[in-house]
Amino acid sequence: MSIAIICPNRDVSDWVTALHAHDPTLTVEVWPGISKPGEVEFVLTWNHPAGLLRQFPKLKCISSLGAGVNHLLNDSTCPPGIPLVRLVDIDLMQSMAEYVLHGVLEHVRRFDDYRHQQALGQWALQNGPHLAEVGIGVMGCGALGSYVAGKLADFGFSVSAWSRTPKQGARMPVFSGEAGLGDFLKQADILVCLLPLTAETENILNMQTFSQLPPKAFLINVARGAHLVDADLLAALDAGQLSGALLDVFRVEPLPREHPFWAHPKIRLTPHVASVTNPHSAALQIVENYHRAITGRQLTNLVDRQRGY
Ligand code: NAP
Ligand code: GLV
Repeated sequence: MSIAIICPNRDVSDWVTALHAHDPTLTVEVWPGISKPGEVEFVLTWNHPAGLLRQFPKLKCISSLGAGVNHLLNDSTCPPGIPLVRLVDIDLMQSMAEYVLHGVLEHVRRFDDYRHQQALGQWALQNGPHLAEVGIGVMGCGALGSYVAGKLADFGFSVSAWSRTPKQGARMPVFSGEAGLGDFLKQADILVCLLPLTAETENILNMQTFSQLPPKAFLINVARGAHLVDADLLAALDAGQLSGALLDVFRVEPLPREHPFWAHPKIRLTPHVASVTNPHSAALQIVENYHRAITGRQLTNLVDRQRGY
């Protein structure tokens, strides 16, 4: 009986240590050095090579090493009957909130302008709105979206969220479904994407969406690169319809050196670092799911393959 960690090009020694801290009896093997594929019952993976997951005849559960699971659902060879789980972790939520709050404040408090002024030796005050006048729309009201929206609301912004299904009793307006999208967008001076990547949400950050936002809205995409139609973002920025964008995720990662996003004056970008899983915070839920899987009990943070998240 073993856990296999499959994360190409990544040092996972911290993961092995963190898993053993919760259960020293575990056998943990790291791909490509898996000595007994026939013993593997649980796989922990990020961007596994396609086809690999078929090689474990006793597999009982596949866990994403992060919150997203599109890397698993996109692999048509991922064994269909095996349950998929993902990570829901307070550390992931907190670091996502830090990233988004930083991006929002940098934009609203005009720090880009002040950096530019500093380079020119200019001393000039820039007016900014009161935070309560800034509407922030968070797309996705799940583990990350609801946490981030709550932190932004704590800070004093006028926050609303958008989800697939209606939410009762939320502390902020939550719009839902296609029918709620227009009303949600029209008050989002800053639009934050925290949706999972599914057939319904792919390309959702497009010109039609941008055209429903208030003039000069700002975009933060921390979900997946394929949510965004790159050419539509460039056109909306160049037309002055959007005032800027902060992007952490891209269709192709690493972002190719020749991509126009790198040098665009209205785009700030980071290399998919908004929220990186901390092994020491996330290991316990993995060890628990491993024990649940091998004893046939209900798993936590189960992914609905049909729904796509
Ligand atoms: P989650 O808990 O599954 O929440 C997903 C939310 O999106 C739910 O509120 C869901 O609505 C909503 N949703 C799904 N499909 C929708 C649709 N068609 N229309 C409207 N709303 C829809 O996911 P999470 O843990 O918050 O993570 C969200 C995503 O963040 C991940 O999938 C991953 O791609 C990304 N992420 C990025 C980083 C980074 O470093 N950049 C780190 C971690 C995660 P319901 O509530 O109605 O189901
Ligand atoms: C990172 O992108 C994650 O899905 O955890």
